[in-house]
Amino acid sequence: MKPVSSPFGQPLDRVDGPLKVTGRAQYAAEFEAAGLLYGSVVNSSIARGRIVSIDTRAAEAVPGVALVLTHQNRPPIASYDEPYEDDDAADGSPFRPLFDDRILYSGQPIALVVADNLELARHAGSLLRVEYEREPHRTDLLSELESMHKAPADLPPPRGDADSALARSPVRVDVQYTTPVEHHNPMEPHASTVHYQPDGSLEIHDKTQGVQNCMRYLEKVFGMKGRIRVLSPYVGGAFGSGLRPQYQLPLAVMAALKLKRSVRVTLKRQQMFTFGYRPRTVQRLSLGADANGQLQAITHQAIGQTSCFEDFTEHEVEWSGMLYQCPNVMLDYQLVPLDVYTPLDMRAPGATIGVFALECAMDELAYAAGVDPLALRLTNYAERNGNEDKPYSSKELRQCYEQGAERFGWSRRSMEPRSMRDGQQLIGWGLATGVWEAMQMPASAKACLGPDGRLVVSSATADIGTGTYTVMTQIAAAAMGLPMDRVEFRLGDSSLSQAPLEGGSFTVSSVGSAVQQACEALRQKFLDAAQQSPVSPFTGAKLEEVEFMYGRMRLKANPEHDVALEQIVAVSGALEAEVSVEPGEKRNEYATATHSAVFVEVRVDEALGTVRVSRVVSAVAAGRVVNPKTAGNQIAGGVVWGIGQALHEETMIDHKLGRYMNHNLSEYHVPVNADIGEIDAFFVEENDEIVNALGSKGVGEIGIVGVGAAVANAIFHATGKRVRDLPITMDKLL
Ligand code: MOS
Repeated sequence: MKPVSSPFGQPLDRVDGPLKVTGRAQYAAEFEAAGLLYGSVVNSSIARGRIVSIDTRAAEAVPGVALVLTHQNRPPIASYDEPYEDDDAADGSPFRPLFDDRILYSGQPIALVVADNLELARHAGSLLRVEYEREPHRTDLLSELESMHKAPADLPPPRGDADSALARSPVRVDVQYTTPVEHHNPMEPHASTVHYQPDGSLEIHDKTQGVQNCMRYLEKVFGMKGRIRVLSPYVGGAFGSGLRPQYQLPLAVMAALKLKRSVRVTLKRQQMFTFGYRPRTVQRLSLGADANGQLQAITHQAIGQTSCFEDFTEHEVEWSGMLYQCPNVMLDYQLVPLDVYTPLDMRAPGATIGVFALECAMDELAYAAGVDPLALRLTNYAERNGNEDKPYSSKELRQCYEQGAERFGWSRRSMEPRSMRDGQQLIGWGLATGVWEAMQMPASAKACLGPDGRLVVSSATADIGTGTYTVMTQIAAAAMGLPMDRVEFRLGDSSLSQAPLEGGSFTVSSVGSAVQQACEALRQKFLDAAQQSPVSPFTGAKLEEVEFMYGRMRLKANPEHDVALEQIVAVSGALEAEVSVEPGEKRNEYATATHSAVFVEVRVDEALGTVRVSRVVSAVAAGRVVNPKTAGNQIAGGVVWGIGQALHEETMIDHKLGRYMNHNLSEYHVPVNADIGEIDAFFVEENDEIVNALGSKGVGEIGIVGVGAAVANAIFHATGKRVRDLPITMDKLL
């Protein structure tokens, strides 16, 4: 018997790919229910004040309208008056749709119209007559800076004395960057289909990154413990927008409970701009270095917007205390409450903005010191995480720089801005470093092998397009010595084993570890079962003395004694193991992070100011990669979004109305195929025995971090212009 090649580490196609491309994968708004009703949300047109009256008569008179739900007639809600949380809640009091007559932001849901079909519901919604009492609103971060307060964030204390080190430094950079609001725009808008069960319990298909988070939230809010099941087998992208339960979910539940009917509520694309987003920020960075570019001091101060009901925080400035070796560091983070919704985690929350500023400032420092930008990074390379004063569990960032520079051809770059051109086009080469945390959360998984010889592994995680189904199947198949097609992974069901939110790039390290250990426990069960017979060749054997391959178990020392797993199950009945896994103790002594080096080529038309990103090389160190294909897709997607951050994305608010104006995909610009050149994303070897048993750190977020800065730095190299306000649109270059 030749050794079976393990699926671990193979660039396999997605196991759910055929279901997705043939339309058989069902999303939250596609599940049918008998007598289903359709809800349409009506949103506030003012940014602050109160509702004086809502005249619902015309809407209710439309034949086929079942209900117009407002704050006046919503069902009583168990815990609406006491604070409740969800797993991704910010400090404060979460938004409660239809709570009372107060308007907290423009776009706030003020009514749900439920009808026999969606068109009727939308039409009836347009007939509502709402009278408001307006109050002056504040939505402009830049004009409200004086009302800032310290963010409730656990920042590392100041290190050394940054101010005096700055004053002594012969080379200094003191710069300010501003970044706009960005909205998550996954292909699938938010939706909930609530199936009202005959016993009054609810089965809900929701677009979410955390079925158990939504279940617990609804159980608490509606006082329905044990009577709610949330399902989300497929998610059409989320990027953080599904980390918290969004307002369509409690609204759909309210309507279903009031009508005792099944109800679906879907949000329109425009309504995707009426909840969380990446916050607008102002960041000030001061870097001080000696004449060779060796850092002496870093100060990084960020100000972000938040709502008046929650203090949204993200890790925005911490990166400046860990990415480079520096003895004097001061970090500060402030928030300005505005009459807007609370921001929300969006792919690599905090790092996307904070590392943008740090890595642009590092480029400015390279030019101030007259040092090559890559050489500057190597001069300041950090072996330890300065914030935690711990060594890294692994850090192959040097390899990222080296291999990335080699593939990109960095050594052929001339330092001088505007020194490389191709006819009318100025060519610029820029680089930046990326970094993200390698976290692990408690998670559980169950593995069960039945008489058909098939292994079913399950955990209540999600696949938001990232490849969870595929990589968990690979981990389980490798652990049980089964071919991929004999393994099925189940997720997206709150009744499965406990799993954390699918986010933060910690799904492989958390759920993957649980899957691997559940299979490990199942192997022991097979050995125990095989030893039941007194004449078993396995009598007395320990788990490490047997191996599992081709769906068979055998003694390593005596390989002809092998038995098919189905044969064991035929006697013992289905075997099953469920485990809960906590992050390993040995992580505590180390800092854990993923890193990347991003190299970008831009071509700027000198006459028109148009920018094209013609080439990107992204070299990533993320530990052991379970599937280079799905992981590579994650990095490429992050690169595309980083290009969007640098050049396109900006949600514009009309401060007179306090409302987002470009709330659609024709005016909210995201990169399209024609905007994207060559992307070379690859992983460097990184062995890590500490981070978890898989040695995998996770790759969801690292792909975007640093890309925006690398593009901005390339534009400076091409044009000699520093644009410190994102996005870098052509008007800023002319
Ligand atoms: Mo990610 S912002 O944790 O979905």
